[in-house]
Order: sequence, then structure tokens, then C-alpha cells
Amino acid sequence: MAKVKTMYQCTDCGNREPKWFGRCSRCGAWNTAEEFSQTRGKVQAEKAAARGGLSDKTKPIPITAIDEEDMQREQFGIHELDRVLGGGLVEGSLILLGGDPGIGKSTIALQSAMEYVQQGRKVLYVSGEESLRQTKMRAKRIGAINDDLLLLAEVDIERIKEEATKCKPDFLVVDSIQSVFCPDISSTPGSVSQIRESAARLMHLAKRESISTLLIGHVTKDGMIAGPRVLEHLVDTVLYFEGERGHPYRILRAVKNRFGSTNEIGVFEMKENGLVEVGNPSSLFLDQRPVGAAGSVVSVCLEGSRPLLVEVQALVGSPAYGNPRRTCTGVDPNRVALLVAVLEKSGGMQITASDIFVNVAGGFRLDEPAADLPIMLALASSFRGKALPQKMAIFGEVGLAGEIRGVSQAELRMQEAKKLGFTQIMIPENNRARLKKSKKATLLGVSNVDEALSTLF
Ligand code: TYD
Ligand code: MG
Repeated sequence: MAKVKTMYQCTDCGNREPKWFGRCSRCGAWNTAEEFSQTRGKVQAEKAAARGGLSDKTKPIPITAIDEEDMQREQFGIHELDRVLGGGLVEGSLILLGGDPGIGKSTIALQSAMEYVQQGRKVLYVSGEESLRQTKMRAKRIGAINDDLLLLAEVDIERIKEEATKCKPDFLVVDSIQSVFCPDISSTPGSVSQIRESAARLMHLAKRESISTLLIGHVTKDGMIAGPRVLEHLVDTVLYFEGERGHPYRILRAVKNRFGSTNEIGVFEMKENGLVEVGNPSSLFLDQRPVGAAGSVVSVCLEGSRPLLVEVQALVGSPAYGNPRRTCTGVDPNRVALLVAVLEKSGGMQITASDIFVNVAGGFRLDEPAADLPIMLALASSFRGKALPQKMAIFGEVGLAGEIRGVSQAELRMQEAKKLGFTQIMIPENNRARLKKSKKATLLGVSNVDEALSTLF
């Protein structure tokens, strides 16, 4: 008989310990210990499932003997989604789609299911949160409905497995992983042990029956992603659906992909009738740019293999009272603090005592070092009250000594800026030296903060 092993698990972060604890040693949360028992056999099965294999009795084989043809990719027909997945859906893969509640996860899942069905494939959409009628209404709003799209309102994992094995869909959607539960585990649905076990069972199903599966997971308020985060190691692909509230733009980002590159993004716009792909996001992010306004700079950033032009705005003002305020949206506040310090030290601008606001237009996030120079120049432009030339785009990393460092893929960034009609491009001198001269645009190479400021102001 399999031996029963009792452990305690933190309901917040999933940390397991052999003894009861008042405070979790990993995440520091209080009173989150939950008894957790599993048999030895199950521990091994879970480990095997986490590895993606189903049996411990596999034998080593030479790498050359492996058939590459095994990995079939199927396109959804939604170009932005296919690209984020690395060229399409790999048969039998397990994908996790995370995001804030209300961001549009169910919409994109249903929309891709409907597109998939249009290609003559069968899809099973399991809804644990919404009624079948609600799902149908949403589907009708999005597009044409079809008999090959099967809906199931179920939360019991064993029943979901049973139905999926019976109808053998090409694609299974489970909306959401927090709503399903394993009846043989005592903890409540949505707890870490339930989520983990449910996902492990679905992984098993996906691999055994070769059913590509999409799990939807909500991100919790504090951004800890109690659900999805504990599953990231288990699944093949992790996608996050992001966007700022109040903005219609949504970004689908691959943060892990066993079958393609990460950092790829897809851009969508939420409209009346579902999500619409945005083919040329650069022009969209620059759409409502103010003319001749100080503090507005166009930066050229790179998301995966894709260059994007995004507007950065800064506002520098004297503080109303007390300590100066620093508010950043779409950029790392620590990075902004660093750039402010460099601007003061190397550029001679006394701005540390000012209120500083930085915002990235369109609800986009700039995480790249290449956005340093545009952010810094937006601050300088606002401080001096002088607008930059309207047709100027900028990229470059700023070092602590005030030096401007070269960035990757300068050619690609420059091409995108030229394509959108920018005639002056300020770039690191290091990059400029390696680039060919261009007729359409003037390349302004700068090697330090001083040079950049004296070129512009
Ligand atoms: P939903 O997919 O239900 O979000 P999630 O599953 O991530 O919680 O999306 C809900 C939001 O999307 C809701 O506020 C309404 C909006 N929406 C549209 O604007 N247009 C549409 O066609 C649909 C289906 C939803
Ligand atoms: Mg939903």
C-alpha cells in the first residue's frame, strides 16, 4: 500500500514544510499553513508530470534518433497570437494564460477557440465561472458560432478529464484553473494545493491524449499571482495578458515558452465585438501625440523581435509642499530615480527637488535599458520647457557616469523609425559608428549626456 505523507503547505506561495508553521519561511505570510497529505505514489506521479513525462521507465536514446516531425504546429489564424506562441500551437502542449480579472482572458480564449473551430477542428471549452448561456452570448458577440465548439460547465477535475477523454478535442480550454477542484483533496478550490494538483492532472491528460490545453489563471490583487505563479514550472508556455485599466489596448506577452522565444508580444485592441489584432502598434501608440509639447519624446524600443515606437511623457514641476513627488506609470521608478541623478550630476540640471511624473502613452510598459535616453530627455525637455523636434525618435542606454551606451538591434530600430516618417534619430555614438548613412533620416550619434543635451537645448 502506498504510504501516506502529511505535509503543511502555505496557501499563499505553495511552500511545503514537514511541520506546521505559524509564519511561512518563504513568503513571510502568517497563518497560511494548510495540512496537505498525499501518497508516495502520487508524489512521484506529480514529479513525473512536472517533467512532462508520464513514466519513470523511459530509456535514454541518441539525440539524432529523435523524430522532429513529432512536433506539429497548428495556427489559430490570429496572427498576433500565433506569433507569441512561436508560430502556432504545438500539439499536446499546456499553456497558461494569466492576467488581471476583467482584462479579456476569457474573450481571447473563446475567440481563439472559435477561430480554431473554423478550421475544422474540435474544441472543448470548460467554463467554471460563467454559465453556458453567458458563454454563448459572448461567443455570439464575437463572431459566428459552430457545432464543433463544445461547452461544458463543470468544476470537478475528474469529470473534466472524463469528458475530454470521451470527446477528444483538438484544443481544450479550462476557464479558470482557480475554479476547478479535485474532490479527493481536502482544501478549498483556488488554494495552492488544489491548483497544483488540478494542473498536474490536466498536464497528464494533455500529454497522454495529445490534447493542446489552455489554462486560464487570475492574478491576485497584490500581483503575487498565487495561482498561476506556482504553475509556471509545470506548463510548457506561460502567457500574460496585460493592459492598463481605461485603455483599450491589450498586450499578450510570452514569459516562458518551451517551443519558441519568449519576450514576444502581440498587441490587441478591445472593441465592441471582441479583440482586434493591431498590426502596426507603433502608429497606434503615437496616434494622439501632442504637437510641440515639452516633455514628450518618442522612444524606439524592442519587444522580442519587434521594434516599437512609443511616446514617453515627463512633467517636471516645483513641489506644491513637502517632499517632491515621484510618480511613474509604465516605467520602473528606480530607473527614473537613477536617470534623475545622472541628469543632475552629469547634465547640470537641478531637478532632484522637483515633482516628477513620467508616463508611457497607451498603457505600455517600457522595461528596456534603451528607453533610458528617451526618458531622460523627456525629463530635460519638460524641465527646460522646450519641445523636441516633432520628427525625432530616440534610443540609448544611460550609464551612471553619464555615458550613452550602445544597444542591441540598432539597425532594426532605425528602420522602424524611418518607416514611420522620423527624419532625425538620436542614437548612441557606438551604434552610429557601425550603421550605414541613411538618406531618409539624419542619425545623431551621442556618447554622453552633455552631448545629447547640447544637441537639443
Ligand atoms: P473577460 O474576457 O471576461 O475578462 P477575464 O476573463 O480576463 O476576466 O473580459 C471582460 C471585459 O471585456 C469586460 O469588461 C467587457 C469587455 N469586452 C468588450 O469590451 N468587448 C467584447 O466583445 C467582450 C466579449 C468583452
Ligand atoms: Mg473570465
